Amino acid sequence: MHYETILVRTEADKVGIIALNRPKQLNALSDQLMDELGHALKAFDADENIGCIILTGSEKAFAAGADIPSMAQYSFVDAYKGDFITRNWETIRSVRKPVIGAVSGFALGGGCELAMMCDFIIAADNAKFGQPEIKLGVIPGAGGTQRLPRAVGKSKTMDMVLTGRMMDATEAERAGLVSRVVPLDKLMEEALGAALIVADLSQVAAMAAKESVNRAFESSLSDGLMFERRLFHGLFATEDQKEGMDAFLNKRKPEFKNR
Ligand code: CAA
Repeated sequence: MHYETILVRTEADKVGIIALNRPKQLNALSDQLMDELGHALKAFDADENIGCIILTGSEKAFAAGADIPSMAQYSFVDAYKGDFITRNWETIRSVRKPVIGAVSGFALGGGCELAMMCDFIIAADNAKFGQPEIKLGVIPGAGGTQRLPRAVGKSKTMDMVLTGRMMDATEAERAGLVSRVVPLDKLMEEALGAALIVADLSQVAAMAAKESVNRAFESSLSDGLMFERRLFHGLFATEDQKEGMDAFLNKRKPEFKNR
């Protein structure tokens, strides 16, 4: 498929990289961009060679949110009948391979929500996160009021969502929203380093790890622990488990076959 609003490439034939690319609109998330992003994510997810995906933007903006001009005149009926937000966004949630968000510049509104849908976020030191929808007379519509409190707790979420203020990279790391902060010129190197580590592991184990961590946000502790244990037990049926443990015992590097 030919993309107009994203740039797609692979690294070492095992990492898929998607860069949002609407520079004049600071990567505002138009329907076209979200459709293309969903398509590219699904293609990488289905590609047997790809073990990890990086989602990034530009130096100035990961994404400045939903596309304001296209929604400015929406009525309730337009938003409700068109299932505004849901249609494109559920695709991202269904990706089973690990997705790393490499965030520089603004990650606002839907941009912050998109970053939070990644499995973890590596931020450049110029990153700014925010849910400023309140300033437009609305509220976050793609998970901001649900994922942000799970990441940073109620007080900081209320502060962000009610005042619309931005959080810089240092505050975001301190609050647990991002896993690492690096200088801007090292962002892609850092994200790629992490992605290559993940891509060299057993794909089935990495997918199970992602599924199990995500389960923590959907279940009671005892249900989550049972879910984890069953996946853990199941991995003993894989060749990769035999390979990983044999390699450890024989002091060699494992070669996972994703089986
Ligand atoms: N949609 C469409 N275009 C946008 C945009 C958006 N969300 N954000 C920025 N742009 C455009 C601007 O209109 C501007 O275009 P023009 O040059 O044609 O005027 C261009 O990007 C550059 O923006 P600025 O001149 O404003 O750049 P700045 O550096 O002065 O400010 C900014 C940057 C702080 C990100 C500011 O652009 C801004 O506040 N943007 C809006 C952020 C926002 O409110 N996001 C939430 C959207 S609602 C949402 O996302 C709902 C949801 O939950 C899914």
